[in-house]
Amino acid sequence: MADEIAIESSLREKRRFKPDPAWSRRANLPGKAAYGRMVKEAEKNFQRYWARHARENVSWFSPWKKILDWKPPFAKWFVGAKTNVSYNCIDRHLEGPNAWRRNKAAIIWEGEPGDRRVLTFGDLHREVGTFANVLKANGVKKGDRVVLYMPLVPELAIAMLACTRIGAVHSIIFGGFSADSIRDRVQDAGAKIVVTADGGWRRGQIVPLKKMVNDAIRKLPEVGRVIVLRRTGQDVPMRKGRDVWWHEQTEGVSPECKPAKLDSEHPLFILYTSGSTGKPKGILHTTGGYLTHVATTARYIFDLKEDDTYWCTADIGWITGHSYVVYGILANGATSVMYEGAPNWPDEERFWQIVDRYRVTVFYTAPTAIRTFMRWGEKRVKKYSLSSLRLLGTVGEPINPEAWMWYRRVVGRNRCPIVDTWWQPETGGILITPLPGAVETTPGSATRPFPGIFPEILNEQGEPCRPDEGGYLVITKPWPGMLRGIYGDPKRFREQYWSKYKDLYFTGDGARRDARGYFWIMGRVDDVMNVAGHRLSTMEIESALVSHRSVAEAAVVGRPDEIKGTAVVGFVSLEGGVEAREELRDELRQHVAREIGPVARPDEIRIAAGLPKTRSGKIMRRLLRDVAAGRETTGDTTTLEDFSVLAALRSDED
Ligand code: PRX
Repeated sequence: MADEIAIESSLREKRRFKPDPAWSRRANLPGKAAYGRMVKEAEKNFQRYWARHARENVSWFSPWKKILDWKPPFAKWFVGAKTNVSYNCIDRHLEGPNAWRRNKAAIIWEGEPGDRRVLTFGDLHREVGTFANVLKANGVKKGDRVVLYMPLVPELAIAMLACTRIGAVHSIIFGGFSADSIRDRVQDAGAKIVVTADGGWRRGQIVPLKKMVNDAIRKLPEVGRVIVLRRTGQDVPMRKGRDVWWHEQTEGVSPECKPAKLDSEHPLFILYTSGSTGKPKGILHTTGGYLTHVATTARYIFDLKEDDTYWCTADIGWITGHSYVVYGILANGATSVMYEGAPNWPDEERFWQIVDRYRVTVFYTAPTAIRTFMRWGEKRVKKYSLSSLRLLGTVGEPINPEAWMWYRRVVGRNRCPIVDTWWQPETGGILITPLPGAVETTPGSATRPFPGIFPEILNEQGEPCRPDEGGYLVITKPWPGMLRGIYGDPKRFREQYWSKYKDLYFTGDGARRDARGYFWIMGRVDDVMNVAGHRLSTMEIESALVSHRSVAEAAVVGRPDEIKGTAVVGFVSLEGGVEAREELRDELRQHVAREIGPVARPDEIRIAAGLPKTRSGKIMRRLLRDVAAGRETTGDTTTLEDFSVLAALRSDED
């Protein structure tokens, strides 16, 4: 259908921000010319280009025989080479020219109740070696899957690194998932061992992790061992013969554990992510290519230097935490800040306190967090100096220009470049992003592909779209961090990612590229609505809504409509102090009509104190679609952060 091709896009952003020359001079990629050379090098021979980064950013025990073996859709990178991820993240910072890093902070951690710990690379070496020996003593062998269900504490990073040290494959389940989700994942991964904690802290409450694990594996006799970290200290039921304490297991154990020499394609981890069918997909990543990708991108995009204090606010249980709290950052020998809890505990200033306390230099967060800070008011941010910050990043969803500008002005004090990084769990690391010292930015655009990544925008027929014509985002050449499959399901892997266009990776995202070659991600293609024969991006309407001074957050979904096919329903929460007046609904409708065009005018506006979100901060549109259509919610709600918001939305009939 013709209208399937033309995803309409009407936002036109004119603001531009050039890299500051003084900033660029110091950057790991110092300016436009250097960037141009890197792009050329990658275009000339992308395999050799990635091999250079593999040599520069990763240490190998033995070299590869072939850079890439590509039998679509199956890729092998650095074939025959041997390496170890924990060696790269720890040991190599303790020897040779970098031996001084032994006493450099690897992890600066703060618990929600206010407890603090700093682990140097030397400390990390001891702790990881010790826990690797504990895993071995508990029967874990190379290739075995280990499920980690933990709060955001240093021991989670330690357990991950211990797995990679001995070639075990970790599968982290985010601490916000419920017992049913754990059971499905443990079973799918075929894990026999689970590492958890008695609990974790979230908004002053204990999240009962161990209890969840008990419920999840009650009927899974194959799980023979549960190692429990004491974090919150409350009583938890321990099953004799199966459950053991972390502190007892590690007592007196040698910290010496040689890193296993693993094949470049040895599985590193499985991370479950939701798919359109509801059954989670186990995204599989392997060793050498993944590490090359995350170490290289972290070095250039976050511009990591020895004196940086880098903070990514994501939970390690999500891909962002895997790649850019732990692996990509530690591989660079950089310092990673971790914070266990909620941004509004004990109050809405916690993040800014942390930035000032540790003098964070590089700060990476999500648009949803930024919009939440906007709602809490800029006064809360302005109270803090934030003078240490030099670079800001975002990830997870399209950032609306208003939030981008606010982030730049209020957090970055108009002094820090912003990197809007586009990627997915499947891509392993960042694929589309500005390079902070080299690429001019414009609010709302993730700008250009990282050199060595080759995206394209195609229409339904597989033809390249014209400038500014919306279409489907694909990646045309393999890249080192790409997923190697869906665990145990090669058929679904092919169908999901490789069947829409032959031998091209289908991202599932809609996008357009402007005349300058800048990419504008329009969100998931299932977030695109067909309203009266026009395709509209929900994100663009949301962006228009939040550009209204009364609106803090917005989510837009389609509701089946007899006449228009789909009616547009906008859910909004208001800025502090704004009253939910009846006239406001009309005003907002008109506002969208003005910003985008009458076709985008929402048919209905619902106002509520908050929107239903997952624990990772994503708005659960599926639930909003149910609310908009007046249906009962049938799907999975286990990741929903706060149930009361759903009820409130239901009762706000227009
Ligand atoms: O639609 C894209 C959006 O988030 C999706 C991946 O979501 P998730 O599995 O939660 O992983 C997020 C962390 C990598 C993508 O398909 N997305 C991610 N980053 C951006 C983005 N959309 C626009 N701009 C981004 N920077």
